[in-house]
Amino acid sequence: MSININNDGLPNIDDLQLLANELFKTLPNEFPKEISLSPDRNEHPRATKIAETLLSAGNLSGHSATPLPLQDVATPPSGAPAFSGFGASPTVANYGSGASALYPNAGAGFDPQSGVSPSGIPHGNNVNVNNPQTGFNDANFKNGGTAQPNEESFFSKLLLNNDYLPFQTESSSFETELHAALKFVDTQFTKRLDFPLNGNENINSYYFLDQNPFAFDHRNSNLLVGNTFEKPDFGNISGSRFDANLIKKDFPILRETVNGKPLVWFDNAATTQKPQSVIDRIAYFYEHENSNIHRAAHELAARASDAYEAAREKVKAFLNASSINEIVFVRGATEGINLVAQSWGDHNLVAGDEIIVSNLEHHANIVPWKRLADKKGLKLRVIPVDDDGQILLDEYSKLLNSKTRLVAFTQVSNALGTVTPAKEIVKMAHAVGAKVLIDGAQSVSHMKVDVQDLNPDWLVFSGHKLFGPTGIGALYGKEDLLNEMQPYQAGGNMIQDVTFEEIKYHKAPNRFEAGTGNIADAIGLGAAIDYVTKLGIDAIGHYEHQLLDYATKLLKEIPGVRLIGTAANKASVLSFNLQGYTNDQVGQALNKEGVAVRTGHHCAQPILRRMGVETTVRPSLAFYNTTQDVDTFIKTLWELKKVRF
Ligand code: ALA
Repeated sequence: MSININNDGLPNIDDLQLLANELFKTLPNEFPKEISLSPDRNEHPRATKIAETLLSAGNLSGHSATPLPLQDVATPPSGAPAFSGFGASPTVANYGSGASALYPNAGAGFDPQSGVSPSGIPHGNNVNVNNPQTGFNDANFKNGGTAQPNEESFFSKLLLNNDYLPFQTESSSFETELHAALKFVDTQFTKRLDFPLNGNENINSYYFLDQNPFAFDHRNSNLLVGNTFEKPDFGNISGSRFDANLIKKDFPILRETVNGKPLVWFDNAATTQKPQSVIDRIAYFYEHENSNIHRAAHELAARASDAYEAAREKVKAFLNASSINEIVFVRGATEGINLVAQSWGDHNLVAGDEIIVSNLEHHANIVPWKRLADKKGLKLRVIPVDDDGQILLDEYSKLLNSKTRLVAFTQVSNALGTVTPAKEIVKMAHAVGAKVLIDGAQSVSHMKVDVQDLNPDWLVFSGHKLFGPTGIGALYGKEDLLNEMQPYQAGGNMIQDVTFEEIKYHKAPNRFEAGTGNIADAIGLGAAIDYVTKLGIDAIGHYEHQLLDYATKLLKEIPGVRLIGTAANKASVLSFNLQGYTNDQVGQALNKEGVAVRTGHHCAQPILRRMGVETTVRPSLAFYNTTQDVDTFIKTLWELKKVRF
């Protein structure tokens, strides 16, 4: 492979990372202590060769635009195990399938640019790879500071030639990524020796892995987003380079231990953990702003009202709604669906009308419609799924007719993780004049949800599954439609004028926000949206996709595991059964190792029964999960298999 030089004269960081990973993968038992050209330092010859090639084959100090040829560096040493993904030919294409040495099939389909660990992936649209940014003010970055190079080091020779490499310091985010990648490779190679696990694994560590990877406290630094520095309003988040280990630091609860083990939070489909910035924002509200809203002339009422309406703006921008009048704060997705059922459904549907839901739905998107159907003589029809848990669009098209008044479906299944073809489902429903409600509870935290693009009539989500507080969520509805709908609950805040003879209602959104709402948590949800937006939802989706891919492949290798839900397009969720164990036993064994998963029917009994089971074990991933988290989970399952097979 070759190392390209960026326009700014710096070696391409992704090329460097690929190269470093390639090197380390070829050296399962004998990592170099450090890379330098000093002949008396007892270097590993391969490391020296790389360094020599780098310096001699290209003119780094001259900022050559020509790629530097680097041949043969990734040829495995003779006798080294022939892991898939890096054979004799060190091509990038080959490289892409070698994510795990322990689990040779795990990496197939990995983004070839991603290196060993998904935590090393670029930031999608949020990062300019030609102008890599650290998550903090890096004093060593291209004349950015006065740090003195270590004269002994390989990189320092480049530095002394007036060439600067990014991420030189031990505390840089690149070092952290490399650290994570190396630790991963290390663990995998070591475990491979006596696989399946026998409980006596000696997970070696390299000297540099013992250093605290989180030595840098990014909270005290500026926040770097894109190419500009910004002072965050409340707390900081990790920088624009996607680094799940750094991101984890933003979530205080992820520093908890459970049964003496670091907490691995794999119950994200049930609820997500909250970053410090959300916690701080809610505390700030109660310390400085607490008041009821829209109701008084005093200063705190203005502060609270402003903060609450600013949160509504954030939801609007997050969903790309056309107007803040399309965003109604509700308790969560469940309340949003009930609102539509009781307001629009109850007033607009008549006996004989048909409602379509999918077989994948959470109870929250079944029960309100079933109750309405029973009450009004409506017909509830169900879009079937195939054995992988994928919507059968042909069958759906057969259900649609002139009596179809509503199609209500989930964008991501909470029980299986299936991502449904939402845009197409909406389009087909509109073609017969039906309205559409999308349950976005499981989608908004994993993918871009653009209501103008998807074009549903309503969409609901819960704040607590989006790293925000419980008890708050949003209902999006098209503005005209919301204004035509009857109020849901009645009381203060939702009226324009009240006499004993007549009541005039506000338009949306106030029309649907009777009484004093959950002001503090709406503001907390706004902070959660800020956090997710700064990480970048596309980057989150990209990272999680790779992590899910990684976990899926490892899980499938365990004998006796049945994966429930094998759709081609999935997000976050891995539902499974393990032969020889009840789901609760698996959940308890995982809990012993600090791994939190949900076991049970996941409030989605129809789809689990369709798949032939009553319950599953359900790990569900989020952007703060890492390959190490997955490894802990997988290792525990292997240990269970060892005992009972
Ligand atoms: N709906 C949440 C879940 O799927 C509670 O776990």
